[in-house]
Amino acid sequence: VTVRVSGSVTARVPASTANLGSGYDSFGLALALYDDFEAWPADSWSVEVDGEGAGSLSTGPRNRVAQAMAAAFAAAGDAGRAARIRCENGVPTGRGLGSSSAAIVGGLVLADGLLGGALGEERLFELAVELEGHPDNVAAALFGGFTVCWDDGEPKAARLQPGGGLAVVAVVSERPLSTASARKLLPEDVPHSDAAFNVGRAGLLVAGITLGRPDLTGPGLGDRLHEPYRAGAVPDFDAVCDVLIDAGADGAALSGAGPTVVGFVQEPDDDAAFARAEEIASLVVARSLPGRRAPLALRVDREGARLLA
Ligand code: HSE
Repeated sequence: VTVRVSGSVTARVPASTANLGSGYDSFGLALALYDDFEAWPADSWSVEVDGEGAGSLSTGPRNRVAQAMAAAFAAAGDAGRAARIRCENGVPTGRGLGSSSAAIVGGLVLADGLLGGALGEERLFELAVELEGHPDNVAAALFGGFTVCWDDGEPKAARLQPGGGLAVVAVVSERPLSTASARKLLPEDVPHSDAAFNVGRAGLLVAGITLGRPDLTGPGLGDRLHEPYRAGAVPDFDAVCDVLIDAGADGAALSGAGPTVVGFVQEPDDDAAFARAEEIASLVVARSLPGRRAPLALRVDREGARLLA
């Protein structure tokens, strides 16, 4: 734990893409696009936000970073503490790239830093799942790499490093879509045949990512549990996937609840994957997709949330 001379702690937390097609509410991948946070002990909560979300995110105690810090202080038996927080946000808010998870994980890691590491990673994960409501983005943001979550009465996560090189091309929407409204589009029940379809695809995806096998990753991204139901809220989903695949991506999926779409690129190492992701991004930009920001080539973050010196 690094505690600065000034008494502040600084944390860096990665963006994440969740679901990856077949792994609804289970799979997550951390991406090298970051929110940086700094916190100083203070008598009351105040938050300064620069970058993504500046002007729209709360600057008081309702801010998610502040709420997560308060939850961590309470869990450590130190309720009543407060902080001044500064956020330098690189993760677009409300687009399906894990901005709320990055804020929650950031707040928890900052508080744990100010507490001298009293809570530890496992407890931080439990708190993060409680605050976020589902585990996939928070697991990737906290642990880095490719994460698979399950529930044994308590939330669990396996952190798996992608084998070989992996990068993504994120086609971010200009407009946000709330996760809560995108979850309301999902049915209570799904046909047994669709569940069976996803079992096979999810198994393939884990193999494709951990073994570095794009021939398995491509079909492994197939999904019948959430993407078809969300297409109404993301009408250009199929068109953006087609553009990414035409440009050379090994496969594409809705990022989390959307509306961002990610293309996946595998090569023998991360540098080669990132170089090919950049080429794909430059081909996609030429297609000037309406309602979409310029595509972003992103490396995978293999480290997860960390305190900075
Ligand atoms: N698994 C969640 C969902 C991710 O699809 O609603 C939200 O980012």
